[in-house]
Amino acid sequence: MDKQNLPKIVVLTGAGISAESGIRTFRDSGGLWEEHDIMDVATPEGWQKNPALVTKFYNSRRSQLLSVEPNPAHLALTRLQQFFDVKIVTQNVDDLHERAGNKNILHLHGELIKARSEKHTELVYEIGYREIALGETCEKGFQLRPHIVWFGEDVPLIVEASKYVVDADILIVIGTSLNVYPAAGLLYHAPYGCEKYLVDPSEHQVDNLFRLRHIKTAAGEGVPALVEELINRYFFQQG
Ligand code: APR
Repeated sequence: MDKQNLPKIVVLTGAGISAESGIRTFRDSGGLWEEHDIMDVATPEGWQKNPALVTKFYNSRRSQLLSVEPNPAHLALTRLQQFFDVKIVTQNVDDLHERAGNKNILHLHGELIKARSEKHTELVYEIGYREIALGETCEKGFQLRPHIVWFGEDVPLIVEASKYVVDADILIVIGTSLNVYPAAGLLYHAPYGCEKYLVDPSEHQVDNLFRLRHIKTAAGEGVPALVEELINRYFFQQG
């Protein structure tokens, strides 16, 4: 079937999609923000105050990527993309979408495997899984910092993400507490009539407001099932 006649799908992911790969979420019990103060490690002020601490925090999260693998939820999105026009907007800074073979990915909050100049934000470098060292500079001589959007910083890709959502026929939200804006506000951009799903085991306040169908399971179970449901509906049940 011609992809042009098929619904356009936007997938918004959060930390929950990577939980079953072994990457901790932020706000669940045992989440990262229980152990670390957001102000210390995820703000420009924290970076100014103690760059060594911030660098260590992200170095260790980056090296953790070497020991984790995409899970069935990430892989199901690759399958979904074989059938539909699918854009993925992720709040995650890991590279599990890419490693699962997903395409068209916007990393709203940056990427662990990149570093950038603390002064010239356009100077971004692929660093893979290695550490950033204090004293390591961009070509203009300024310290490299993690390519992460910290609290209080602009989210430049939100504009493009909103354009995707405005145009969506189906919006699938996976594994996010929807606590952090502007990412959470993307739901408000979904057009009237857009079919919306939330795959997340926890209760969410948004259900009624957005008329989401809440699939209350772990992503590794709920996403593959939803993907098969959509493929069956559009490819195998048309008369
Ligand atoms: N499958 C699906 N969802 C899950 C799973 C799972 N196996 N395990 C946990 N979850 C859900 C939780 O129920 C929760 O709703 O994942 C969500 C995780 O929420 P947060 O920890 O708040 O993560 P997220 O929404 O991605 O955080 C947004 O906050 O600190 C920042 O920049 C960071 O991008 C992050 C942003």
